[in-house]
Amino acid sequence: MSTSLSSEQLTEIAREYGTPVYVYDAEKITFQYHSLTHEFHDQPARFFYACKALTNVHILKHIYSLGASFDCSSINEVKIARYAGIPADKILYTSNSISFSEIEEAQAEGVHINIDSLSNLDKFGRKYKNTYPVGIRLRPNIMAGGNLNISTGHDKSKFGIPINKIDEILAVVHKHKMDIAVLHIHTGSEISDVDLYMKGVDILLELAEKFPTVHTLDLGGGFKVPYKDGDSHTDISLLASAIKKAFAKAKAQTGREYNIWFEPGKFMVSECGYLIASVTVLKETSATTFAGVDTGFNHLIRPMFYGAYHRIENLSNPQGETRKYSVVGNVCETDTFAWERDVAEIKEGDLLVFRNAGAYGMEMASNFNSRFRPAEVMVKDGQPQLIRRRETFDDLLRNQII
Ligand code: LLP
Repeated sequence: MSTSLSSEQLTEIAREYGTPVYVYDAEKITFQYHSLTHEFHDQPARFFYACKALTNVHILKHIYSLGASFDCSSINEVKIARYAGIPADKILYTSNSISFSEIEEAQAEGVHINIDSLSNLDKFGRKYKNTYPVGIRLRPNIMAGGNLNISTGHDKSKFGIPINKIDEILAVVHKHKMDIAVLHIHTGSEISDVDLYMKGVDILLELAEKFPTVHTLDLGGGFKVPYKDGDSHTDISLLASAIKKAFAKAKAQTGREYNIWFEPGKFMVSECGYLIASVTVLKETSATTFAGVDTGFNHLIRPMFYGAYHRIENLSNPQGETRKYSVVGNVCETDTFAWERDVAEIKEGDLLVFRNAGAYGMEMASNFNSRFRPAEVMVKDGQPQLIRRRETFDDLLRNQII
């Protein structure tokens, strides 16, 4: 069964730790991971949690305890994962626009590496020849994902090496006799269309024929979760059977078999997360009734940055009659979480909760307007545990030369 934290639990946590506060339900993460492993149980699939979504060490440790591996997008994420006790062979470094020195550091750590530019591929080949198996991130030139900002596989995207450069890629690989173990694509975030997902898979399967050393196809992340009732989502069961069919067909045609890697971020942690805020001000205007809260896009940037929808509920008056409110943050510029949204009647001092706040919420938070970043609490086995303290004034000054 799927899980979610109750209004009472969330209210209690907000009372104890103050607002704004991020709360994560460990059981929901477990549920999400198990639903992936269940659907792919009869395929050689491995799941690397894309930890850019949420890197709190307690979350990483919990996900590691489930048996997952980890996908990192900076050398510091690699180091945080190592700090959390995750062994190097369970870490993958999929980078973009980075200097070769970061790749050298990742190599020294002994983690798996996907390279996403021809120049870094050439440098890697020159330095390590065939001594270090490595992956190549390809750009399949297909458009997939929720919107342009979170699509990464199209023909104007900076990510991966475009597949029309395949001859140049092969020339580099042959020149240095490289051991290419993995071919990778990640075409975007929030891909609910399984046929579209499979377009990328088919391209990868075809290209893999050109690389006799490749034993793994990394299909990236991008599974969509629902944000509201009736919202679209990736049908993982349908995807698993489509992938099984495609890989079986490739085996029949070429005799080649591959391990399958995935890098889910949102799927793992979006729905586990809640951001709780207090209503500071109610303001009736001729256009709308504003409900101002003690958080803003400095803490949850997704609505302003991607036009993302986050459900908003009034924890303090769950049974109240719904009215239309425009829920706005306290950042000193336009900072709208929701315009004219139905919410149970709000009074100043009420607690509001933003759902689906686990992925790219706290992780993209900033100190804009010199506000403190929120505390984080993880609920595991029914017990709330503070896993990051709210920042203090000292944190704002920490690196300033005074
Ligand atoms: N693998 C790679 C190489 C990626 O670049 C990403 C996400 C993922 C995996 C995980 O994708 P997911 O399963 O989470 O969709 N901040 C945006 C999302 C940006 C995703 C960036 N790359 C948002 O809040 O919607």
